[in-house]
Amino acid sequence: METSRPWERPPGRAGSPGRPLFLTSKVRIQDAGYDKTLRSFEKTLTNLGTDYLYLIHMPYGDYHGSWRAMEELLRAGRVRAIGVCNFLPDRLCDLILSHEAVPAVNQIELHPFCQQRGLREIMAQYQIRPMAWAPFAEGLNGIFRHPVLSAIGAQYGKTPAQVVPRWLRQEGVVAIPKSVHAQRIQENFAVDDFRLSPADMVQIHALDLEHSLILEVSSVSEVYRLHSIRFEQ
Ligand SMILES: NC(=O)c1ccc[n+]([C@@H]2O[C@H](COP(=O)([O-])OP(=O)(O)OC[C@H]3O[C@@H](n4cnc5c(N)ncnc54)[C@H](OP(=O)(O)O)[C@@H]3O)[C@@H](O)[C@H]2O)c1
Repeated sequence: METSRPWERPPGRAGSPGRPLFLTSKVRIQDAGYDKTLRSFEKTLTNLGTDYLYLIHMPYGDYHGSWRAMEELLRAGRVRAIGVCNFLPDRLCDLILSHEAVPAVNQIELHPFCQQRGLREIMAQYQIRPMAWAPFAEGLNGIFRHPVLSAIGAQYGKTPAQVVPRWLRQEGVVAIPKSVHAQRIQENFAVDDFRLSPADMVQIHALDLEHSLILEVSSVSEVYRLHSIRFEQ
């Protein structure tokens, strides 16, 4: 039956043709563990009234318990796919080697200044799709006026905000850019009508600073900070 709610349409039919829409939700650190993950999932499912991609938000707490619960949800057909966020090579490999299901995606900080090439090589071995959070580096390093990205874009009549999603697409990365402005959202999506050349790709590769600008996942202060957050139940 046809529905007006895009997230209820089967994959491949949502959005424009050939562009499936994946609704994604996450298990918070405070809900890590087998029982809490199942409870948290039921709550989210009730709130949204649909099935979707379910992710572990952080590689902290009892994420092995969470993963066992998520594998059950996957086997029961309650979710279409399960994945993780912010898993660096050591914890990602530990998770894979400890369980049956391999994450479908790993959502990580990924933008021209933090390209995560080492991690992505390991993910490629297990066919884990990279999903870029903060694809615009949250505006840091002057990304929207960056001279290299501006010059590349100028060749095609495109802005840096269009070069970045195009680059990510050509790299095989799913991007989740955020804007609260309709015009910018349209701008950020208008990347189907051009292709970056190999020379452009090399120039963007050279922008990699090889470290996080936003969230240093493995730093002890982050572990303390994230564990200290308390959410309403
Ligand atoms: N899994 C995780 O641990 C994690 C961590 C952080 C973020 N995320 C998710 O990742 C997604 C995106 O990340 P993000 O919001 O942190 O960063 P982002 O997408 O890199 O950057 C968003 C910023 O860029 C601005 N912007 C967007 N398009 C623009 C344009 N065309 N021109 C100029 N400015 C533009 C936005 O401003 P306006 O809104 O004012 O346009 C906003 O300030 C979000 O859905 C977020 O929830 C996940």
